[in-house]
Amino acid sequence: MPQYVGSKWRKTVALLRSPTLRKIVPKTVKLSDSSLREMLRHHGMVYVKPDVGMHGNGVMRVEIARGLYRLRMGTQDRSYSSFGEMYQVIRKLTSGRKHLIQRGVHLLRYGGRRFDLRVMAQLNPRKSWETTGMIGRVAAARKIVTNYHGGGKLVPVEKLLGSQLGHTLVRGKIRQLRKIGVMAGQAMRRKFPGVCEVGVDVGMDASLTPWILEVNTSPDPYIFRKLPDRSIFKKIRRYSKAYGKR
Ligand SMILES: Nc1ncnc2c1ncn2[C@@H]1O[C@H](COP(=O)(O)OP(=O)(O)O)[C@@H](O)[C@H]1O
Ligand SMILES: [Mg+2]
Repeated sequence: MPQYVGSKWRKTVALLRSPTLRKIVPKTVKLSDSSLREMLRHHGMVYVKPDVGMHGNGVMRVEIARGLYRLRMGTQDRSYSSFGEMYQVIRKLTSGRKHLIQRGVHLLRYGGRRFDLRVMAQLNPRKSWETTGMIGRVAAARKIVTNYHGGGKLVPVEKLLGSQLGHTLVRGKIRQLRKIGVMAGQAMRRKFPGVCEVGVDVGMDASLTPWILEVNTSPDPYIFRKLPDRSIFKKIRRYSKAYGKR
């Protein structure tokens, strides 16, 4: 079975070793009272997430809005007049588990809802990295995470990017995303030699710069069944069987 790496921190360190990828990883630090103050002061909006977690569980969005500190998680949305007051709540919510802070990306929206993209790259039977699939994930109304298992909706990338860009530019963006998938796979395998597949969560802001929000080392292949092109899911399964996944 391919290697699974749980810690987002360790996976971020692996990405930062690549001179190309390090430019598109939003600044990430370990959570503490002082690091959160500092990150908020610099960036205004950040995400706090468990070092080990999935499906968007426990992911929080923290921002300074109109002089108030705003904390969102799941469907909760609260504002606090002081940092200290908010941090007490964050401490309760995060107690006992390691958490990270990542600079927030103001994700593009589709029909008023935030979206990001999942890029799947795999070691192919010729033992080189290949991007085998890509799909967009649109958050449920007012939600801060786009995860399918958190109520997100799967939409073809062409449709999402086509709402922002013309046809030729969409083609170019897709090529860029394919390269990111391949490079992320290579960077992970360099550090973790048993990794055979990656699912890269890529967020884009209004400038359409791709940012790597997370790399999954055991990504869900079934989301690709939602694409009209059946050959994509078939290839993903064929490749994963070749490296020993059922
Ligand atoms: N830095 C960020 N900026 C904007 N949105 C983010 C950021 N980090 C995470 N998110 C949102 O939260 C979701 C879940 O975060 P992620 O790091 O992928 O954790 P999980 O392992 O739970 O999927 C992402 O798919 C994205 O929608
Ligand atoms: Mg994710």
